Amino acid sequence: MCGIMGYVGPRPASPIIMQGLKRLEYRGYDSAGIAVAADGVIQIRKAAGKLDRLVEAMAASEPSGAIGIGHTRWATHGPPTDANAHPHADTTEKFAIVHNGIIENFFELKEELLAAGREFTSDTDTEVLVHLISDEYDGDLAEAVRRAVKRATGAYALVAVAAEQPDTIVAVRMISPLVIGFGEGETFLASGIPALLDHTRDVLVMEDGELAIITAEGITLEKLDGTPVDRQHMKVDWDVEQAEKGGYPHFMLKEIFEQPRVVADSLLGRLDGTDVILEGVAWGPAFEQSIEKIWITACGTAFHAGLAGKEMFEGLLRIPTEAVYAHELRYRDPIVEPNSLTLAISQSGETADTLAGARLLHERGSRLLAITNVVGSALTHYSDDVIYTRAGLEISVASTKAYTAMLVAQYLLALRLGQSRGVLDEARARKVAAALEALPGQVESLLKREEGIDEMARFLASKLADENDIYFIGRGLDYAVATEGSLKLKEISYLHSEAMPAGELKHGTLALITEGTPVIVVNTQAHVYDKTVSALQEVKARGASVIAVAYDDDTEIEHYTDHVLRIPRTLDLLSPVLSIVPLQLLAYHVADARGLEIDQPRNLAKSVTVE
Ligand code: G6P
Repeated sequence: MCGIMGYVGPRPASPIIMQGLKRLEYRGYDSAGIAVAADGVIQIRKAAGKLDRLVEAMAASEPSGAIGIGHTRWATHGPPTDANAHPHADTTEKFAIVHNGIIENFFELKEELLAAGREFTSDTDTEVLVHLISDEYDGDLAEAVRRAVKRATGAYALVAVAAEQPDTIVAVRMISPLVIGFGEGETFLASGIPALLDHTRDVLVMEDGELAIITAEGITLEKLDGTPVDRQHMKVDWDVEQAEKGGYPHFMLKEIFEQPRVVADSLLGRLDGTDVILEGVAWGPAFEQSIEKIWITACGTAFHAGLAGKEMFEGLLRIPTEAVYAHELRYRDPIVEPNSLTLAISQSGETADTLAGARLLHERGSRLLAITNVVGSALTHYSDDVIYTRAGLEISVASTKAYTAMLVAQYLLALRLGQSRGVLDEARARKVAAALEALPGQVESLLKREEGIDEMARFLASKLADENDIYFIGRGLDYAVATEGSLKLKEISYLHSEAMPAGELKHGTLALITEGTPVIVVNTQAHVYDKTVSALQEVKARGASVIAVAYDDDTEIEHYTDHVLRIPRTLDLLSPVLSIVPLQLLAYHVADARGLEIDQPRNLAKSVTVE
């Protein structure tokens, strides 16, 4: 989720690039930098922290020149430091690049480059690319970039300049977005349309696998194999605010629709067949085999992701697992067994309660693994190991994409532990790995399906918008998803909602079910399917109006429900990644139908850094 801005034309590049980076601020970042080429030299300024720090560095000496590239970084490899900020230059300082995304095989490439005597100045995956470009250069930057990216795998947007070609920017898009803007005798490049709108509304959106050679006069667009591409420009009529939301009316909706990419990014480079590569996990196989207890601690949505983790670790790995709200844990006197592993889950990595709960278990001898979305966040400082969730900046207070990314991180961990502990045989591990690999496509097809999950959620939301109380039920993993579905609904729609295990209804809540009471059921777990159906029959008999979330091929569910939100079939273990999506959309549309402020619900904060 980094930001990119580039300029080539007659004007000084630095102020234009800085203005563009400012426009991309809403995406969030932890460091920023700029490279300008002039007179055979590339000048780079970069700084960790807010854009102001870069502004200060520029005030001392602003690079002058009419071609340049800039970047705001959201760290994925290496903490947010001045050295890790982009742009990155090669050893000769004749080439500079900025890059969004992840280079999957950076480790092998780095080993190779180090063996060949290249010196690295950062911990980033990006730096390998600039060394490769420098190695491949023989007078043609586009050709050097083309050869370099052939050696890299991953999802990225890459932008390069060369001191010897101070009239050309070369850009490659491989999944991460890049947009080109056309002015009068000047050309702009950015990772998002908002950065271009101060200058032009005449844009071209690059597609995956394309390379653009950009000069002040315009661009040459080709496929990576050199085949020319002819694409119409597009006229943008969005204002800046609309553009920041990618054309969606709210960040929450945009973030829900980002989930296919987030799930893909969270898996990227971490699955090699059935091998799970977790770059921030330092323990060895001996520790994995020794784990006797897993603790999970978190708050809010992160806790709900942890509830799913608990089901999974116990069910799949047969490791006793306890999920405890961090604010409860911190005032308990927990008995921490030797050989225990704590998962502290936190989007921000800054939630005060989660930090306190995690530290307590750590102090009592548990190994601490942080699962967080923010590189270098406070939680990572206390932790022995870390898995970054790669959801990118989440702006909406109601968390959506960070939740699915937390689920994916836990699946990867479970797959790894299952194999090293010998509880997952190869055939089963292969099945889980293949189902994980299929998830991004399935989330995408769910969001894009013809019959329209979004339309269906909007239709059902219009029925729920005037209700007072809504109940969510499910069993096992479905219950975990129900807790998150209920939280989404209540926090943005201000309707009362409660989630409970389906079997618990009869112990009290059934008294509240009368004619028309809405009950939302998640029913994807084969081993308890019939049991949940029994609970449905109980609420139906009292007149409840039932909406189910169920698999596409479940032909039975409609007999017990009024409406069904369908999801693609996957392994039951992985269903939360899919079953949460219709519930997020439902919550969104209920709040929208009630005319509420969706991205910033009353009384709530994105991250609660005080007790
Ligand atoms: C706040 C947010 C929630 C979030 C919770 C935990 O309450 O409003 O959306 O789930 O904090 O945040 P964390 O950053 O630790 O995941």
